[in-house]
Amino acid sequence: MAIYPPNKTQKDIDEVYKRAYERTKIIYPKKKTFFSPRLRTLHQISIDKGYLASTLVGIGDFCIDLVAACIAAVKKINRKIFPREDVIHGTKKDSYVTGKITFAKKNDLTTPIHHMQVEFWARTFFGGWRKMSSGHTDEEGVFKLYFDFIEAKKFKYRRSFHFEIHQVEHVFFNQDSGEPRKKVSVFDSFKVKKSDLTGMGYDLGLIQLFYWEYRDDVPIPRVVIKEQNEDAPEYYSEGRNEAAAEQFIPIEIIKDKHLLQIKRNPQSISIESIQDDYPTNLTVAMEREIPGSTRCDYWFGRRMMNGMSCATFLPDEKEKGKYWVKIFGSCDYEVNQEFAFPTVYGQFKIADNGLPLPTKIIVKGQTDAYNKNPFQEKTFTPNDGEKWEQAKRIMRVSSALSSEIDDHFAGTHLNTEQYAIAVRRNVRLNPVAELLLPHLKEVTLINHTADTNLIGPGYIPRASAMTAEGIIERSKDALGTHDWKNWKPMEPISEQHTFAIASNLFWDVVHQFVDYFFDENEEDIKKYWYEIYCMSNDLVNNSVPLFLSEQDSRKWTGEERELNQDRIEYNHLRACFDNTLSRDIINGKKKSISSITKSKNTPAEGDMDNLKDMCKYAIMVATFLHTYVNEHQYEDIGEVLYCSLGLRYGDKEDGIFQPENDYSIAPDLTRATQMMWFSNLLSRTEYGFITRNEEHDIHPYFSKLLLDKKEEFAKLHVNVENIESRTNI
Ligand SMILES: [Fe+2]
Repeated sequence: MAIYPPNKTQKDIDEVYKRAYERTKIIYPKKKTFFSPRLRTLHQISIDKGYLASTLVGIGDFCIDLVAACIAAVKKINRKIFPREDVIHGTKKDSYVTGKITFAKKNDLTTPIHHMQVEFWARTFFGGWRKMSSGHTDEEGVFKLYFDFIEAKKFKYRRSFHFEIHQVEHVFFNQDSGEPRKKVSVFDSFKVKKSDLTGMGYDLGLIQLFYWEYRDDVPIPRVVIKEQNEDAPEYYSEGRNEAAAEQFIPIEIIKDKHLLQIKRNPQSISIESIQDDYPTNLTVAMEREIPGSTRCDYWFGRRMMNGMSCATFLPDEKEKGKYWVKIFGSCDYEVNQEFAFPTVYGQFKIADNGLPLPTKIIVKGQTDAYNKNPFQEKTFTPNDGEKWEQAKRIMRVSSALSSEIDDHFAGTHLNTEQYAIAVRRNVRLNPVAELLLPHLKEVTLINHTADTNLIGPGYIPRASAMTAEGIIERSKDALGTHDWKNWKPMEPISEQHTFAIASNLFWDVVHQFVDYFFDENEEDIKKYWYEIYCMSNDLVNNSVPLFLSEQDSRKWTGEERELNQDRIEYNHLRACFDNTLSRDIINGKKKSISSITKSKNTPAEGDMDNLKDMCKYAIMVATFLHTYVNEHQYEDIGEVLYCSLGLRYGDKEDGIFQPENDYSIAPDLTRATQMMWFSNLLSRTEYGFITRNEEHDIHPYFSKLLLDKKEEFAKLHVNVENIESRTNI
């Protein structure tokens, strides 16, 4: 294939792209009806269980839903009959309940939980709630809630009082004024006997909470979630679950049908029939109109620049005007021997139309089942005919897997989670909570689901070269190239570099929004600086080491040194990581995340700017950067033979260098349907968008700023209404 398919021009392909895009774009949810199939939470999804296939399970789920609906209705009625009015009963402050709250995990026992909202309630014999006192823990986690002793002893109150610890569940904004409103929920409560209130103070002693605890079993900052539906530190909003069900259930039914066919009658199913059963994606739709339109060099370069991988173009030091894109394959991570994951370097020139054209592809590493030398190299140019086509496919596939693990999972999901945990553990009274929580919520939940569905025993280790252990190690390393300090978006290298231009445009919007928010809230941000100090400490102390800094470089062979230095240089550029900054060394490990402040009570010079920059970065990662890679999966890995997460070695001498119609290297039938399930699931079930603001949890100024740029973004192939406000799929 040449630059374009025979007798076709760029105009033909651009036009077919526009038509195919319109036909295949994802339309986000309509309203679900009572009789629609249900999915209680996203965590119920499973790669190989037929969740919807079993009628019994379906009936059982319906019953559980019914019971849950009844309980919710009773609670709602209860709240209506017995409202909790925010009025303190009694006038004197002559008695108190006191205590101290700390985290509960073994290595966290001495860490106080500061500024936690605590309340003391009585109930009348008729069930009415009466607030006796409320307040917050101090910096040492100590609370002392004064109340009116005579009032508390009145006969109308029951024998048990309630001491409650509250946490902020959601933040909402008045859409006219931008005024925030926090929805708090009871995180834990304890009963206090009325008879124990003697007129002196009552000491509840040390209260240890399992509250947003860091996991010890992975080398990555993750929160402890044992059972997502019961003891998670946060829960999906109802709207999020409903939207997932709306889009996801039809896809689940297709996958279940395929798995059943493969089990009972494998002759009845093929890669083609699997592909046909799923919604038509962009590349399939384009191929139907112009065969070869997505396999030609033009499309290859265009997607490498502005597709899911949105590659980084490193100027070629020897050939002026040319660039290198480097996709690092299995390197020294644990892999299986079924799938290939070679390192691929692609050389590009920028054509007159501003888009990159591939000029050379170098495939490094194992590409067949026999020669396992990790440093073998094969070089291809457009003159190599069929082998050139195969090399492009190999680069697409390596790029997709690298993008999935390094950019999507580590770069956005895990990256966002580390900010979510640090904020949740520490920021409560500081307005930064209102700024960040809408953008950091739910990421811990989806990451927990990914542990089992995509990593662990999930899809990626089964359908690619990477083992679960390899993915965790690689993710930890990848996270070591991400830091908020001195970060800025990728620089465009031409007018057609739409990903980079759109990134910069969005970054400008985030700047305007965060600067505005800080101007409005500066006094309180400084007043509660202690929370920022603790957040910064948690963020830095729990961050992963600098990329590859734990390896003993003296032991590297010459080839390993060359590869690893390449990885460090390229990955730092890709993540815009400033390696010249001096970073904290904790327990002998150089931490990847920079400290925001070392000042405990008031910001030192530069600290407010640091905090602003951190907030901008966290919002950028959780919104635009995640949306981009997530939504383009459907376009770039939504056709099994065009691009998957792994090509099998097969049994031929030249391994993965085979044409697309050689199914011995393609994903097998099971992985093929799971592949389609995976890309559809992740791209189709997005919910929670900045401008649609479905839950009124987005500051109206942020939505407005973005909507004002709608036309500018549209010219860059970005629909602002599809940019998610948070990373939750
Ligand atoms: Fe995602």
